[in-house]
Amino acid sequence: MAASAPGKLILFGEHAVVFGEPALCTAINLRAEVFVRPYKEWRADGGSIDEPRYRYVKAAIAKAGARDPMWIEVRSMVPIGSGLGSSAAVTVATLGALHGIAGALDAPTIAREAFEVEHEVQGRASPIDTSTATAGGALLVRREPREDLLWTIERDTRRWCLHRARLPDLDFVIGNTGISAATGPLVAKVKDRVDRDPQAADMVQEIGRITLDGLAALQRRDLVEAGRLMDRDHALLTALGVGHPMLDRLVVAARPSSFGAKLTGAGGGGSIVALTDRPEETADAVRSAGGKAFVVRPDSVGVTKQP
Ligand code: MEV
Repeated sequence: MAASAPGKLILFGEHAVVFGEPALCTAINLRAEVFVRPYKEWRADGGSIDEPRYRYVKAAIAKAGARDPMWIEVRSMVPIGSGLGSSAAVTVATLGALHGIAGALDAPTIAREAFEVEHEVQGRASPIDTSTATAGGALLVRREPREDLLWTIERDTRRWCLHRARLPDLDFVIGNTGISAATGPLVAKVKDRVDRDPQAADMVQEIGRITLDGLAALQRRDLVEAGRLMDRDHALLTALGVGHPMLDRLVVAARPSSFGAKLTGAGGGGSIVALTDRPEETADAVRSAGGKAFVVRPDSVGVTKQP
């Protein structure tokens, strides 16, 4: 049995979403595939499943309640630690393959289990990455349920209502710094700042407002305004302590040929996203500044069984 799930690109709202603020994300056409079949002992890509890089796979196996040993293979096109949701894609694809064995792929169940896995392995988190990998397409997270609600996920006093969002056809260039950064410590750092500094709490709320304004701008194809909001979001995230000089270098390189650019995902390294109608030019500018550049397209397909 095999299943695949997409990586993701957060357009607005990373970090603020952990506090329950709105965020906008789209699945992208870089996928992770996981194959499982019964075997005499647990194996991951032929080796030990206890290696740290399989910790999401192992936690997903425990969450799905799989007991009989299996041979597991993980193939992912999503670069690790790049802000593009590699761990969520692998977690969701693993759950998809395991639930596929039992015959049913129930998206809300997979989304909830994947969020719990991410929470156990990474620490404090929101369900945005795991729900996007499950549902595919574009998702808007809000506190309150509205039209187009997919599912609701709660934890402690926080609640996230995951909605289907509709975006026009857009070109995004990713600029990867090549610096891999773990999400957990960055999320903890922002929480620490917000707990100590009321100005940081205001910034988190401003990011939430930017998300809703940014979605409205994208939907009416006001790309100039959407780009301006991306630039502002980048400044706020940097002020919250999740920037990196290399991220600044890449956004500065991307901006002359794009509407706007910001870090995407957890930051601290990882990637930027630029909204552009000149993707080749923007990608060249990112490469000249020392980043790896590629164009990604939204992917409407969420977790799916492989033939
Ligand atoms: C990471 O892709 C997004 C963060 O907002 C963390 C999370 O939502 O769990 C930084």
